[in-house]
Amino acid sequence: MIPGTTGAAEAAATEKLLAVMRLRDPALADHGVRTAHVAAALAAELGLDAEECDRVYLGAILHDIGKLGIPEALLWKPAGLDRTEWAEIRTHPENGHRLVADIAAREVAACVLYHHERVDAEGYPFGIGLRTLPLAVRIVQVADAYDAMTSDRPYQGPLPVGAALAELRRCAGAQFDAEVVATLSRLLAVVDPAVRTVALTLTTAGADDLPADPFGDSLRDAG
Ligand SMILES: [Fe+2]
Repeated sequence: MIPGTTGAAEAAATEKLLAVMRLRDPALADHGVRTAHVAAALAAELGLDAEECDRVYLGAILHDIGKLGIPEALLWKPAGLDRTEWAEIRTHPENGHRLVADIAAREVAACVLYHHERVDAEGYPFGIGLRTLPLAVRIVQVADAYDAMTSDRPYQGPLPVGAALAELRRCAGAQFDAEVVATLSRLLAVVDPAVRTVALTLTTAGADDLPADPFGDSLRDAG
């Protein structure tokens, strides 16, 4: 059972959708659950109340559910995607939203629809920015990218925690909400004080220590 949720019907629906995701693509389901754990910790650290934390948790679990409609070969394609393939990948926020809109709370559905938007309004599908993006979405975006970078993927191995944090900091204020990124840095430093040193070292060492584009094609699952 999904823990801590305030709405039993919503939790049951989410659990069923998670089971469908796991049946189709276990890695996609695992990514949702890991993202949800990070997102819920961020939400609590940012002072959201229990109900709001639950919404963030559910939104994080379901954020990529629209990928159920994307062919597996395309979803996990190791090489670069062409224009047509990108266009298909980019349908997943709206397809996912259509799936959950009538069974999930508004904030949960927003996490599905807006998780590839950016605070500088350069994301998709709508190009909306910081003022319009709910905090729940901005939290899920950071948690999602963190998990995508630190997980093993067919097209890129996992980044060390410090390198992932450094990349999130580099993108803070443009792709991600700077306060949420700072909160994750704080949380991880509490968990492992060495992380702060590693992250700072990477940041001051410059971009040479990082992959040219750590997200690469992973926008498929980074967000
Ligand atoms: Fe996504």
